[in-house]
Amino acid sequence: MTAMLVEKNVPLQSCNTFHIVARAHSLVRVASEADVQTVVASSEWGPSPKFVLGGGSNIVLTGDVKPLVLKVEIKGKRLVQETAKAFVVEAGAGEDWHDFVTWTLQQGYPGLENLALIPGTVGAAPVQNIGAYGVELQDRFESLDAIDLQTGRIFTLNAAQCGFGYRDSVFKHAPQAQTAGLGLAGRALITHVRFSLPKPWKAVLGYADLEKKIAEANIAQPSALQIYQWICDIRRAKLPDPDVIGNVGSFFKNPTVTPEQRDDIIARDPKIVHYHLADGSVKLAAGWLIDACGWKGKSVGNAGVYEKQALVLVNRGGATGGEVMTLARAIQTSVYERFGIRLEPEPTVV
Ligand code: EPU
Repeated sequence: MTAMLVEKNVPLQSCNTFHIVARAHSLVRVASEADVQTVVASSEWGPSPKFVLGGGSNIVLTGDVKPLVLKVEIKGKRLVQETAKAFVVEAGAGEDWHDFVTWTLQQGYPGLENLALIPGTVGAAPVQNIGAYGVELQDRFESLDAIDLQTGRIFTLNAAQCGFGYRDSVFKHAPQAQTAGLGLAGRALITHVRFSLPKPWKAVLGYADLEKKIAEANIAQPSALQIYQWICDIRRAKLPDPDVIGNVGSFFKNPTVTPEQRDDIIARDPKIVHYHLADGSVKLAAGWLIDACGWKGKSVGNAGVYEKQALVLVNRGGATGGEVMTLARAIQTSVYERFGIRLEPEPTVV
């Protein structure tokens, strides 16, 4: 059995991309399946509640973390299989997501380029089914391995078993909170994730920001590497770099409404940005709604609304989780009062 080192009173400011000051009462770094199983088998720590921490890019810490923090540091990237139809690649949950995307492209396995530069780790990517510029993780997902934190058993889940939705999966739901299927939040730790990158590769274009790049560069059939570069440029231009300004990307999900609700809103605000979905419902741009309420650039204490993208809340220096949540609630209230729409936060509030 591997030795287990429990660190006490560990500062988490550098472990969350909001850079909120908070501490973990107890923290264990896990670099392998065996490390996790050692924790589960421990008479002292096995039965206690646990919090799985990846890159901390989708959490708001509102105080010190009392459950045992399992900091996932499982590494490794490899090609598992190449078939006529796809490259299957795998990464350890503790790998940095963007580094992994970059590696796949360098190796000649295209398919993840639209998801470049998303902060966080590989293991956190399925938890909220990350997505950007027309591609969601679930479109490239093959399977993942996880460990049951109560029994130490290793199991594998396919896409259907992960229950992917828009910025959602089985890993975001507490065991009792989900009606259909099993919630796995706090119950499972993802150790490895596999992706199936289809052959022949096909570019996913069509997003306004990308179309603009194509028109500017006058390249009709861009390569995967070219798209990767454009995505990095687009994101750097409108999203704050969490290493410089603390943030968790989009703070709210884009809400979905019925065509009737949309008609009602358009009657009041003809300029509202919206997209039609295949099932007949309509997605509204939450950033536009927040912007329309005049929030861009505003602050509550040290928490603020990013100047270039109203959907992104930022830490202007020394913000507490409480300030972030007060700002978030004020935004929710004004969007509800003006448009009758309830915005749902994207990150997990801890
Ligand atoms: N808009 C405004 N004002 C703003 C912000 C946006 O008018 O302050 C308008 C834009 O002009 C645009 C529309 O709203 O017409 C949508 O904005 P944008 O293209 O920036 O995308 P988004 O809907 O705000 C979503 C994802 C992002 C993802 C981008 C690109 C969600 C919650 N967010 O943002 O994901 O990168 O599309 O695909 O779905 C994340 O989840 O953390 C994230 C960054």
